[in-house]
Amino acid sequence: MKKIIAFAGSNSKQSINKELVKYASSLLKNINVEILDLNDFELPIYGLDYEKDYGIPENAHKFLERIKLSDGIILSLAEHNGAYTTAFKNLFDWMTRIEGKTFFNKPMLLMGTSPGGRGGASVLEIAQKRFPYHDANIVEVFSLPFFGNNFADGKIVDEDFNVQLKNSIQQFQNNL
Ligand SMILES: Cc1cc2nc3c(=O)[nH]c(=O)nc-3n(C[C@H](O)[C@H](O)[C@H](O)COP(=O)(O)O)c2cc1C
Repeated sequence: MKKIIAFAGSNSKQSINKELVKYASSLLKNINVEILDLNDFELPIYGLDYEKDYGIPENAHKFLERIKLSDGIILSLAEHNGAYTTAFKNLFDWMTRIEGKTFFNKPMLLMGTSPGGRGGASVLEIAQKRFPYHDANIVEVFSLPFFGNNFADGKIVDEDFNVQLKNSIQQFQNNL
């Protein structure tokens, strides 16, 4: 059975992006999904001096290994001030110090959600431009605006967005 990893680009314990990740993962058929949490991979803030003095922390190696061993990635990015959250950017920076081809060409479903109307559009734009330099194979992008209105009881309640996500999941699964 194929095995994917799924995670939110957030370290919030109440992450809405993690909620979306869990729901999206539940739509996959006959796929082994490992849901990861950035809080389980705590890292010091990246700095050249830290790296020189102490090397690259084990948790960055561990996360990168999870990507390498997976058949695909579901990632939902939270947006802070129009960009990646500090927690995600930090992990990303550390991993790129180990391996520039950070995403190993694994099929990726890239998502984002926010309480507001743009659904993480700015961070998704940044990621779509940048990730390909790190061998990302983005097969689908899905954005859910107004999380509070469109998501309840563990699932998307707006039918149009639900159909859109199901189509994206189908495409993602076809690429695994
Ligand atoms: C420091 C900070 C900056 C934020 N900036 C944005 C933003 O630029 N765009 C946006 O849509 N939401 C922004 N938000 C709201 C987040 O989208 C919201 O907190 C959301 O729950 C984050 O996703 P998460 O729950 O998965 O961590 C910001 C929140 C914080 C705390």
